[in-house]
Amino acid sequence: MKAKIEFTLNGKNVSVELEESKKLLWVLRTHFNLTGTKYGCGEGYCGACTVLINNSATRSCATTIGEVAGKNVITIEGLAQGEKLHPVQQAFADHDALQCGYCTPGMIMNAVGLLNDQPNPSREDIILGMEDNLCRCGAHNRILDAIEAAAN
Ligand code: FES
Repeated sequence: MKAKIEFTLNGKNVSVELEESKKLLWVLRTHFNLTGTKYGCGEGYCGACTVLINNSATRSCATTIGEVAGKNVITIEGLAQGEKLHPVQQAFADHDALQCGYCTPGMIMNAVGLLNDQPNPSREDIILGMEDNLCRCGAHNRILDAIEAAAN
């Protein structure tokens, strides 16, 4: 049965009328055309679909639209302030912290969530906080360097 679900998406109040069990990942991609949030495994393992919900990094493939009612959702499209990139986005660009780029939105959103929780993480904290976000290209060291730079 469909329900009306209201939430904040990238700073705007939005509402959808959908089955509450529908996964947030697909609502973002197909309903709102926010295709920066990527589909990787679809099972909560790879991190490609990470968004912020109430400032915490959350896997949108493992979150139902019903669960975000009344919450604040930020996707990669909502991170920059106008032309000004978020410091984590800028650090990824400065450190060439990507190769194919498919994992990048999820990496950045996970890193922003990590820095929200721990504003001054050690390298070890960053490694631990990012270890469940997978990159098949092997850009991990540059990703860690970027996050370390963004934190300082
Ligand atoms: Fe959500 Fe892999 S697509 S964790």
